[in-house]
Amino acid sequence: MSFTVAIDGPAAAGKGTISKGVAAHFGFAHLDTGLLYRAVGRRTLDGTDPIAAAEALSAEELEQGDLRTADIAQAASKVAVIPEVRAALVDFQRAFARRSGGAVLDGRDIGTVICPEAEVKIFVTASAEVRAERRYLELSAKGTDLTRDQVLADVRERDARDAERSTAPMKPADDAVLLDTSDLSIQDALAQAVALIERKRPAAF
Ligand code: DC
Repeated sequence: MSFTVAIDGPAAAGKGTISKGVAAHFGFAHLDTGLLYRAVGRRTLDGTDPIAAAEALSAEELEQGDLRTADIAQAASKVAVIPEVRAALVDFQRAFARRSGGAVLDGRDIGTVICPEAEVKIFVTASAEVRAERRYLELSAKGTDLTRDQVLADVRERDARDAERSTAPMKPADDAVLLDTSDLSIQDALAQAVALIERKRPAAF
């Protein structure tokens, strides 16, 4: 029996932290679907065709090297507009979502396209300024040359591309619950997500 939690939202809204926390709390498996697009994006940086890269993607590639760099984020957002790239990644995500024991997937189109039948859908947001500050601190900890303003511009550029593309644009599903983390601590945001899932969780989970 499966139970799927779909967590969508823009970059650095807190999806990753909330998804990991929820998965640990309930003992569910977690898939950060952004990593799929990042792995494809990274391949294109050395000239590989994005569709060929998506079709040949292996689970091991998601574990190799640091995919969470600013360059790879932009490359991911660019390959994510290509319908054939998205199509090549659908089956893997759907199989993950329907594995037994419960699954949490976070991304942009999980509640709308990948798992429209997910039992719980959460759309995590925060203001662009708050998200850029979080991303700046994250990148600074790894040693970045980018300024706060550059990180904010990057976040806005990626938001616009992700929300305005014609295939599977980032948007809340009609039945998603919105969770704005602008003024929430990580603990409070996680507690709200856990409470929401708790209400929908069947006894078997
Ligand atoms: O969540 P992230 O920042 O790691 O995602 C990187 C890019 O991948 C994001 O800008 C858009 C794309 N993406 C997507 O189009 N659909 C998803 N389900 C997840 C990510």
